[in-house]
Amino acid sequence: MKILIVGAGAIGLLLTGIISHNGGEVVLFSRRSEVAKYISKNGIKIISEKNEYVSRAECVSSIEPDAKYDLAIVTVKSYDTANIAKLLSEKLSRQTYVLTLQNGLNNAETLANFLGHERVFPGITMQSSTLLGTNEVLHVFNGLTIIGNYAGPPTEDVRKIAHSLSMYGVPCNISENIWRNIWFKLMVNSVINPLTAILRVKNGLLLEIPFIDTLIKNILEEAISIARLHGHEFELDDCFDKIIRIIRETGNNKSSMLQDIEGGRKTEIDYLNGKIVQLAAKHGLEMPINRALTILVKGIEKMNNDSKINKWRNSIQL
Ligand code: PAF
Repeated sequence: MKILIVGAGAIGLLLTGIISHNGGEVVLFSRRSEVAKYISKNGIKIISEKNEYVSRAECVSSIEPDAKYDLAIVTVKSYDTANIAKLLSEKLSRQTYVLTLQNGLNNAETLANFLGHERVFPGITMQSSTLLGTNEVLHVFNGLTIIGNYAGPPTEDVRKIAHSLSMYGVPCNISENIWRNIWFKLMVNSVINPLTAILRVKNGLLLEIPFIDTLIKNILEEAISIARLHGHEFELDDCFDKIIRIIRETGNNKSSMLQDIEGGRKTEIDYLNGKIVQLAAKHGLEMPINRALTILVKGIEKMNNDSKINKWRNSIQL
């Protein structure tokens, strides 16, 4: 199976490195040509508690027309999905399947709008990694990846994809109801990501914050009420226990949102807590806790930007 990984962030690098290390045929795509050159020349370095290795990897900054990949795995930020979906629809052969392993809601739907839902497979991943450099990641947790069919029960094709990923070192299960898994992953990210980004702590340190359990439950109560309106029933204590376990398992990771804040980049807050607020508003409902987190993260994003502008202004004055 020839795989194209789309996006050279923490998860894109990690998947490419693991698959290549385990003998898979994989190419990484980054729109930045200097990044593509650097990775093709130096490979991808993966550091984990148990070992450290460099995987050879081809990284390209353009996709040749009618590109013959069996599978493209989209790992870009949610705010980039529409751009990438358009590009993939123009470049990939019509036979290529497209799997999304992104955070947030609506990525699969956006891809399907451009590519047709028959080719798109929704998924989530609990793989956790921190970007250490252009070609270097810290692999904190070898979490499960779960994929499913866009519509209907799992097909032979989705089984083949899951089998290949597992064979190449990315443990992957199939779900009978992947949309429910996506809602649960939304809850995971709506708890861990803004809290770690605001408090500037690695995931595990969240558990040291006094009364954090109350705040986590407040976030979840709101998210669960919105999930219910979309046909997914979740139980608060069960979600809470599972998320505490994920916080422990990924304890040494910097969440993707904290990495974005530290890197001065835009975050995915609009697709996580912001999405919960937006969906609630359509039903005339208010989600004060998720709204507050959204406002705070957007405030931090803005201050990051303003300080960049100020540095630039000061450098001009000098
Ligand atoms: O976005 C992230 O950082 C990850 O999805 C997770 C699982 C919260 C681990 O840090």
